[in-house]
Amino acid sequence: MASSSGLRNRRAFLSFLAASPILASVGFTSRWVEDLMAEPLAAQDTAALGAQNEVIIKSVKEALNVFDFDAVARTKLSPAHYTFITDGSFNNETLRANREGFSKYQIRLRRLTGITKVDQSVRIFGVNWESPIFLCPIGRMNAYYPQGAVVVARAAKATRTLQILSGSAVILADPKIIGDIIAARGEPVWFAGLGDTLDQPLIKQVEAMGCPTLVWTIDDGGANTIGAKSIQHVEVRDLDREADSRCSGCHSNLPKITRIQASTPMDMLGAVGSLLGETSVKLSWDDVKRVRDMTRMKLVLKGIVTREDAALAVQHGIDAVIVSNHGGHEDASGRGTIECLPEVVAGAAGKIPVLIDSGFRGGADVFKALALGATAVGIGRPHIWGLSSFGQEGVETVIALLRRELQVVMAQTGAASIAKISRNSLVLHS
Ligand SMILES: Cc1cc2nc3c(=O)[nH]c(=O)nc-3n(C[C@H](O)[C@H](O)[C@H](O)COP(=O)(O)O)c2cc1C
Repeated sequence: MASSSGLRNRRAFLSFLAASPILASVGFTSRWVEDLMAEPLAAQDTAALGAQNEVIIKSVKEALNVFDFDAVARTKLSPAHYTFITDGSFNNETLRANREGFSKYQIRLRRLTGITKVDQSVRIFGVNWESPIFLCPIGRMNAYYPQGAVVVARAAKATRTLQILSGSAVILADPKIIGDIIAARGEPVWFAGLGDTLDQPLIKQVEAMGCPTLVWTIDDGGANTIGAKSIQHVEVRDLDREADSRCSGCHSNLPKITRIQASTPMDMLGAVGSLLGETSVKLSWDDVKRVRDMTRMKLVLKGIVTREDAALAVQHGIDAVIVSNHGGHEDASGRGTIECLPEVVAGAAGKIPVLIDSGFRGGADVFKALALGATAVGIGRPHIWGLSSFGQEGVETVIALLRRELQVVMAQTGAASIAKISRNSLVLHS
């Protein structure tokens, strides 16, 4: 994560640059730098939340990277919700591994490439997208912003970004919401069904609504501590959801666990975090065959992390896989998805596209995955930070920042298009 002193120095440097005639002489009048000149807010008092980034931006124009939105989200969300988004399961091994994995690869830069324009468009299932960066399915988005999924859909439309909609509890409770989201997006979105909640009526419904692609998330293994941490980290001894107006609106219809204590057993704590009952572990490849036979939509498996399972996905007529560990939210493997990617690409053997998510926070991360054979790269938390911070504008800016960073790295490696990115641009850090 970027240090706050690093961010301060970068801001000071940009102030210097903007005042300099050098910029004008090279014709660099980018709105980006001008926007960055806006005076950042003095750090707010975020002590209660243990802020990691002392600069709390007050407008998207001040954002330097996606972590700026994390800092704002921290101040805007209830501590339990913020911690639920941020933390990983078990002891955060996989969460950390997702970020650390990127440092195992370094990028080989080329000089004098003469590149003046970069095209980062990609084609997936016959559809062109402006960028390989897509929005991951995130459940219960109303907890992070009013009508969260609809607002994200508007941002996806404005930036022409692939959005995968989570078929989480809120959506399942009122499937008409899917129609609202499709209307906001302006076209059917990809739909992600979770574990064993994916049944025939739901599949038929999303198919009838025109969703072209069904993503089946099969990595929700029943993480065991996210709910507990949501309470412990913010030192809430007893979380009384009925008494807290921030909770009661959404949680009042959940099972009778209105008061949660630090001593509450794990499955009860799951009521504010991950549910042990909702797990994909009990599913098998027979279920995949059953679901495959139920629909003509493209079927994508989300959560594949090994060569063997990628090969089995191909054998079972799956149209693509997403290398994912739910952003470290569900398992204790300690393996970053960037480390799993090469073997999944090998297992897919060029027969189906391999997408990836978990831990992607910058253009260089995205570049590394593309160089290792990924077709597209998903972001989960970053767009939720953007959403919680500044709504639609926040999501759009997160996407714009990552695209800009990817563009720079592509130019620096001599790749004018995604097809020109190659494994040769990476070296393994010894
Ligand atoms: C708060 C939260 C909720 C999530 N909800 C879902 C979900 O409903 N369905 C799903 O397939 N994945 C879900 N995911 C996983 C994301 O789709 C994605 O795999 C992950 O966030 C990517 O990692 P990142 O957050 O590090 O970018 C969720 C992740 C988080 C952090």
